[in-house]
Amino acid sequence: MPKILEGAAISAAIKQEVAEEVRALAQRGVRPGLAAVLVGNVAASEIYVRSKVATCAELGLYSDLITPPEDVTTEAMLGLVAGLNHRDEIDGILIQLPLPKQVDTKALLDAVDPVKDVDGFHPVNAGRLQANRPALAPCTPAGIIEILRRSGIAIAGRHAVVVGRSDIVGKPAAMLLLHENATVTICHSKTRDLGAITRQADILVAAIGHAGFITPEMVRPGATLIDVGINRLSTREEFDRFFKGDAKRESAFQKRGSTIVGDIDPRAFALAGAYTPVPGGVGPLTIAMLMANTVRAAKMRRGL
Ligand code: GUN
Repeated sequence: MPKILEGAAISAAIKQEVAEEVRALAQRGVRPGLAAVLVGNVAASEIYVRSKVATCAELGLYSDLITPPEDVTTEAMLGLVAGLNHRDEIDGILIQLPLPKQVDTKALLDAVDPVKDVDGFHPVNAGRLQANRPALAPCTPAGIIEILRRSGIAIAGRHAVVVGRSDIVGKPAAMLLLHENATVTICHSKTRDLGAITRQADILVAAIGHAGFITPEMVRPGATLIDVGINRLSTREEFDRFFKGDAKRESAFQKRGSTIVGDIDPRAFALAGAYTPVPGGVGPLTIAMLMANTVRAAKMRRGL
C-alpha cells in the first residue's frame, strides 16, 4: 500500500512550531506582521487570502488585509507597496496573484523590499536561492521539502523530476531539491517523450496546472509522487474521467457540484511508494510556510 503524505498533519506541526516562536518573540516585544494584498474579487484568491489572514490570527501574528479595487493602477499599487515597505509593524508583504491585466505584476513584485518578500518572488530572493544563500524561499516549494523531510523520504542521490517550470513552483522546487542533493530534471510543455523521463523519477513533482496530466503509464512503480495541482472538475464528463465509481468523491461532487483533482491522474497513486493527495497534500503546507517565512523575515530584519 502506498503511504499517503498527509499535508494537514505536517502543516499543523509546522504551525505549532511557528506559534511557539511567535510566543518567544513576544517576550522580546516583537510581533511578526503580515500585509496581505488582495485585488478585486477573484473567488479562489479571496478564499486563499482570507485563510492566510485567519492563520495569522490563530498563530498570534499581526495581519493587515488590504483590498484595492479591480481597476487599480500599477502606480497606485506601487505606492501601496512603498508604504508597506516602510511600515515597521509589517514584516511580510504578500501580493496575491494573479493580478488584473492592467497591473504590471513584475514591476510590483520587484518593488517589494526583498527583506519583506515572504513569497520569495523577488529576483533578489530567486538569485539568493539559486546561489544557495539564506533566502526567503517560495512557500509551496518550501512546503514540498518539508513534506519529504518530515515523512522520512530521502532526497540525496535520488532522481527528482519536476514537471513545470514556473517561477512560483517548478523552478524554485528544482533548486531546493538540488540543494538537498537530488539529481534534478526539469520538464515542461516542450519536453519530448516526457513519459520516458518521468518514468525515471524516484521523486516526481507535478506542477503543470493541467488536470490529471501525469498518467499511470508515466510513473515508475514505487516512486514518491508530489502533486501540486489544484484543478476544479465541474462537469459530469470531467468527473467521470477520473473518479467514475468512487463513492466518496461521488457524494462530495453531488453535494458541491464540483470536486478537485491534481496534476496527477489519481489512478497513478496506487503505483506509488508514497504520494500527496489532492486535496490535503501540498496545499495545506503553503500557508504554514508563509507563516514560517513571516516569522523568519521578522527575525532577519531585526538581526535576531
Ligand atoms: N497565487 C497562487 N499561489 C500563490 C502564492 O503562493 N502566493 C501568491 N502571492 N499568490 C499566489
